[in-house]
Amino acid sequence: MNQDAYVDITSHDTFTSGFPSATFKRLRDEDPCAWVEESDGGKGFWAITRYEDIKELNRQPHIFSSAKGIRLEEQTEEEYMARRTFQETDPPEHTRQRMILHRAFSQKMIAKYEDLVRELAIDVCETALQNNEIDVVKQIARKLPMRMLGRVLGTPDEDGAWLVDKGDELIANSDPDFTNHVIDKVNTDEYRFMPFRSPAGKEIYDYAKQQMVQRLHTNMDDVLSLLLEPNKDGERLSELEFKNFFALAVAAGNDTTRYSLAMSMYHLCNQPQLFAQLKDKANDDPIWDTAVEEFIRYAAPTLHFRRTALADYELHGKTIKAGDKVLLWFTSGNFDERQFESPETVNITRSPNQHMAFGQGGPHACLGMWLARLEVRVTLQELIRRVDAMQQLAPEKYLRSNFIRGIKSLMVGFKLAA
Ligand code: HEM
Repeated sequence: MNQDAYVDITSHDTFTSGFPSATFKRLRDEDPCAWVEESDGGKGFWAITRYEDIKELNRQPHIFSSAKGIRLEEQTEEEYMARRTFQETDPPEHTRQRMILHRAFSQKMIAKYEDLVRELAIDVCETALQNNEIDVVKQIARKLPMRMLGRVLGTPDEDGAWLVDKGDELIANSDPDFTNHVIDKVNTDEYRFMPFRSPAGKEIYDYAKQQMVQRLHTNMDDVLSLLLEPNKDGERLSELEFKNFFALAVAAGNDTTRYSLAMSMYHLCNQPQLFAQLKDKANDDPIWDTAVEEFIRYAAPTLHFRRTALADYELHGKTIKAGDKVLLWFTSGNFDERQFESPETVNITRSPNQHMAFGQGGPHACLGMWLARLEVRVTLQELIRRVDAMQQLAPEKYLRSNFIRGIKSLMVGFKLAA
């Protein structure tokens, strides 16, 4: 953990040494609504770092809008309109698409996938554990979420690995391990109308179009078909709306769950008492629910989402002006001592645990939260069942990103269960 209390939270490089917890603690304690200049010449933003403040602002989409971008990046109106997903809209427009998807991703619907997730998790764990020294992020955590999401959406299994690579190129567009078009190092103007200003965005668009055309000819009884059904007024999503939803799903459903799993495995290696607490627990033991929630609280992979103020707003004696960028630092909220007792401690029986890793209180709360929870729980169950101990073998490596927080490499040695 980076203990410098004055790091540049706008720099992607800062996050390669882990979450800068000392800086966020200082901000929460001393300047919870801080004006931050951007090192790359962006116009600056308000950093909201306390749990209650994030929740308060997130609940007011009529003042703190998602409709002018949800990431730090400045976009022209044209770029923004070309790349806009339903996450970048406000109610009531947002509600239309959200309603279509909501049922497919509800707790009840997702619970039906448990056997399928388990089948994939067993396959992934058994293949990975053929070696007893592996990079668990590459061999386990990276392998499952996109394959699973593909099953939910209805894309062919054999496309899973390609979609993982493309999802990484999109969302990890600031890390040279994942893309040749590192966003702050090369000129990406050519791709400014593509998701994440990435050439992978074009490939994802083409792929999504193929999937769309296929479903317009044949109903395939999957989530993508559902999304393409006309509503009661006979309107259906435009081609661009569909392609942007697909890009959002590939970006959002791929690495966040991976990094939650990676952080969980990091804790299991370094705190053997956690491993012992979970070993030999039945699949339906309630400890799994609290453990998964706590692992996800701590992992908090989406560092922030942006809003844009539509009206002036007073907070902690400061005036956020209409038009200003406002960053809700969800990860910081999860470590707020005002909300969580000993937030730096991983307490897998913590209850209640109203963390904000999936957002909190607003209309955009994570659509995939039940899928993510299921994947983390089942994968950890199948992994722990097969091993008696796990040990970290080399320093972990963190993603280069001021947007997504994650361990991208974690070498682990396993003692396999007899
Ligand atoms: C542990 C894993 C995950 C974490 C931590 C996470 C985090 C988040 C957060 C914080 C938001 C709120 C964004 C905002 O306030 O603007 C969000 C929204 C969203 N997430 Fe997730 N996510 C995860 C997994 C997934 C998965 C598996 C999917 C699969 C489809 C997904 C799809 C979405 C979508 C579509 C939205 C936008 C919802 C809307 O605007 O109404 N997420 N996610």
